[in-house]
Amino acid sequence: MAKLRLEDVADAAGVSKATVSRVINRRGYLSQKTINLVERTMKELNYRPNAIAQQMTTGKTQLIGILVPNVANPFFGELASALENRLFKMGYKVLVGNAQNDAVKESRYLQQLLNHQVDALIIATHNHNVEEYQNANLPIIAIDRYLRQDIPVVQSDNYAGGKLATETLIQRGATKIIHTDNLPSNQHDTQRKVAYETTMRSHQLTPTTYLTNFYGDHTDRVNVFNQLFDEHPDVDGIFASNDTDAALLLQIAHQRGYHLPNDLQIIGYDGTQASQLLAPDLATIVQPIANMANVAVDLLESRLKKQPLPASVVLPVTLREGATLRAK
Ligand code: RIB
Repeated sequence: MAKLRLEDVADAAGVSKATVSRVINRRGYLSQKTINLVERTMKELNYRPNAIAQQMTTGKTQLIGILVPNVANPFFGELASALENRLFKMGYKVLVGNAQNDAVKESRYLQQLLNHQVDALIIATHNHNVEEYQNANLPIIAIDRYLRQDIPVVQSDNYAGGKLATETLIQRGATKIIHTDNLPSNQHDTQRKVAYETTMRSHQLTPTTYLTNFYGDHTDRVNVFNQLFDEHPDVDGIFASNDTDAALLLQIAHQRGYHLPNDLQIIGYDGTQASQLLAPDLATIVQPIANMANVAVDLLESRLKKQPLPASVVLPVTLREGATLRAK
């Protein structure tokens, strides 16, 4: 049987070759009716566009590389999912890398993504010294981290979030407030810690921070948090820099007999759907994850069209009330 050609699809669908090509490459204005018709015809004929030929005509692979520190973390899992959803609707496919805190792994992923001729990259990892970012000659958007002067960053307002969490605990009567933070972190989410410390001092309160390793195992966190309660049994407020840590602190506090929110109040950070489902009592600072993904994709589109971009976009955070906080 002769190999199917683009014109066979065009004839069967009753449209021009150019329309079939535009549907395949998602170029120019197309009504949903035309997209459906051409896609249905391709399916009926079992026609598969040749990716290499496609790439040669458009100069594009319609592939976007996404690198996150850890897909198992609900924040990054939900972020990657929101990015993929939006990009897929736009006709892209994504390749997602789980960089962890391994510069060699991140660099290999990057080389691989560049070898696959991705059209652009969205980067939300923690490594700051990966050489490929300096030389990568293609559109890049960063989320939550600084990569290079000309690479725009999409972030939530980490300083405002840290301040809101700390002010809220103080307003609800806590005075011995401890912050837990992760290392490595980046310049942006470190702002949560800076805001916590500044707010504490502005209320003549002493800041204390316990650090955990973002990539460390569960037992390490349990040990650090138990140490926190051993060393500060009178702690009456905790601001945790992410919801998974906040949920663990909540569990340990219950085991140790604290009654929340009467003798201890806890606020997390992130506000993921997973945390809302698994720890519905947890009050938290909500990052607008879906909006961060949308803005990153908007910026990517503008960059692909060679339009000028802002150095950064900072999105507002909100407080989600929960039973781990006293009422206003
Ligand atoms: O939970 C993961 C955390 O790491 C998030 O708060 C995100 O902003 C990143 O810094």
